Parts: sequence; structure tokens; C-alpha cells
Amino acid sequence: MSHKGVIEQYRKFLPVGDKTPVVTLLEGDTPLIPSKCLSELTGLEVFLKYEGLNPTGSFKDRGMTMAISKALEDKAKVVICASTGNTSASASAYAARAGMKSVVLIPEGNIALGKLAQAMIHNAQVIAIKGNFDQALTLVKEISQKYPIVLVNSVNPFRIEGQKTASFEICDNLGDAPDFHAIPVGNAGNITAYWKGYKEYFENKSSRKLPKMLGFQAADSAPIVYDKIIDKPETIATAIRIGNPASWKQAVAARDESGGLIDIVTDEEIIEAYKMLAKYDGVFVEPASAASVAGVIKLRKKEYFKGKKGRIVCTLTGHGLKDPNIAIKNVSQPVSVEAKLKDLLDVIGL
Ligand code: F0G
Repeated sequence: MSHKGVIEQYRKFLPVGDKTPVVTLLEGDTPLIPSKCLSELTGLEVFLKYEGLNPTGSFKDRGMTMAISKALEDKAKVVICASTGNTSASASAYAARAGMKSVVLIPEGNIALGKLAQAMIHNAQVIAIKGNFDQALTLVKEISQKYPIVLVNSVNPFRIEGQKTASFEICDNLGDAPDFHAIPVGNAGNITAYWKGYKEYFENKSSRKLPKMLGFQAADSAPIVYDKIIDKPETIATAIRIGNPASWKQAVAARDESGGLIDIVTDEEIIEAYKMLAKYDGVFVEPASAASVAGVIKLRKKEYFKGKKGRIVCTLTGHGLKDPNIAIKNVSQPVSVEAKLKDLLDVIGL
């Protein structure tokens, strides 16, 4: 049977009824790609959950199909979100499909080009604020409390419900949950959703074990690791440039209940993992997505996996094409030659 989107696929695990109008772009059913280089490096079997292959290029679509369907069920006309880019891309696409207006607040100057283009072409009202994501989130929360506008950030519980389907897919794919699950942490909605999904599948006897959750924050945007709000978060991985995550407590619970950890990875480690994925596994992700892989490499160096067996899944949250500027900045540049065979052969080294 062809895939009909995450709501139809996992309806019995989701708070939808017969009357819920399903707004879908057929998100989900993303590939779980074996990673040869990471498996060799760690000695465990490593898989990449490539969420960049969702319709708008990130995992947000799983949550947005739920949030927008429920908003439509409630006859909402306008949705709003704060975003480092992917939430706004997804919200604007699903709102367009539902015939709703979308308003998105982004931190001026700190959003990847592709994501900005997405929100704009889907006809969102895009507002760049002179502040960061945390300030934008505070503002949209206030607006949604005072006006008839539905908030579609991950503080909206339907977002978490939709996003938990990624865990279900992984378990269905592997025949069980993995032993470790590595994931980037920004606003902390996704680690919360994955852990909820793993627990529900386990309780339903659809899986036989639970993974240890391994979360990774960028070093200068790591409020959970340092246990304090970061007023001026910084990182090259703009998607996770967040200093006061909404699902902070839930992320800590996922870490502690699973016996996992939340650690930092530096921008250098993120870029190294980003390049490695593209160069050896043929998988192009955006920098924030590489935080999960950077984390696994870091843990391997600290011998965390020593003597351990089993499977590691790394979530790759968004597509590399979202942020082409970063890719171009971090590799050698194309050479320019005359349109002559001899010049070309010289350059190729033939
Ligand atoms: N990776 C990417 C590519 C993201 O866009 C985000 C979050 C994360 C990881 C972190 O996920 O917030 O659930 O912990 N992006 C949000 C946005 C904040 O506005 O698009 P999280």
C-alpha cells in the first residue's frame, strides 16, 4: 500500500478522529540509511534517519500535519510560529494547503536562505525580528494567548504527537527500537517526541526495548547541558541557535529516563561531521542535523561505545540544500578554465 502520510499510517496512536480533516503532504516514510563510515568507526551498526527527505525538507512536517489538521478541525483561520527556519517553512506550506494564513517570526540575519525562500513562496507573512528565536517565541506565545491565532511551535502538543511517528518508523524498519538514539537538540521538541514515541511503542508491545537517548546541543547554545538560560546563543548551526528551549524539562526527562545523556558539540565538530556525511555516505544535511553525528563521533573518542554492541540511529533533521551558503563556504571552490579541451585535461590531471 502506498504511504498516505503519518496520520493515516499511525492513526491509532494519534489524537485524531473521523471528523479531523487530514492536511498532509505525504510526509514521513523517510529512509533509514546504513552508514558505512560510522559503523566502521564505532563498531556498532549505525543508521541515518534522513528527515531531510520530508516534503519541506525537515522533520517538522510530521508535527505540522498534525498541528494544521487539528487547527483546521477547530476552524482556525490563522497560524503563527517563531522559527529558526524549518518550522516556518513547514507551517507555511501546510497552512497554504489548508487555505489558512500563516505568520512567521524569524530572527533577522540568522536564518538559512532556503528556509526563508520557502516561507516566502508559500505566502506566509514573514516578519524578521531584531532579536533571537527565544525572544520571537515569547512574542508569538503572547499573541496566540490574546488573539484567535493558533500557535504551531512545538509547545503545541499536536506537534509532538506527529513527530513521535519517526520513532515508530524506526522500530518498524529495524524490527525493534535501536540501542542508542542520537539527536540534535534546539527547542527540545524533537527529543521529547522521539522518547514519547519509543515509550508508546514499547508499552504497546510493538517493540521490545527502549533506546538510550543521546542529545547534542551546539557548544555556545547549550542551556540544557549547562543547566542555565543562555541569553545570547551562538552557533553556525542556526537551526539550533536557542538559549531557552520550550521543552527543556521534557528533554531532561528523556535523557534521565532512558539512561542517556545530553552533551555539547562544537561548531568545528559539527562541520567535520557535516562534511564527513556528505563525502563518505553521500548524504547532504544542514549543519544542525550533523550535530547528532558529531555527538556520536565525540562519544566514540571518549570510548563511550567501547565493549557495547547493537544499533545506533542518528536523526538527520534537515536537508543540506536548506543552507547552501554553509556548504560552499566550507569546501574548496570550483576552478574556472577556458572552454578548451587541453586546459580542461590539465585541470583534471589527465
Ligand atoms: N535540526 C533542525 C534542522 C531544526 O530545524 C531544529 C529546530 C532542530 C534540529 C532541533 O529540534 O527544536 O525540536 O530540539 N528547529 C526549530 C525551527 C527551532 O524553528 O525550525 P528541536
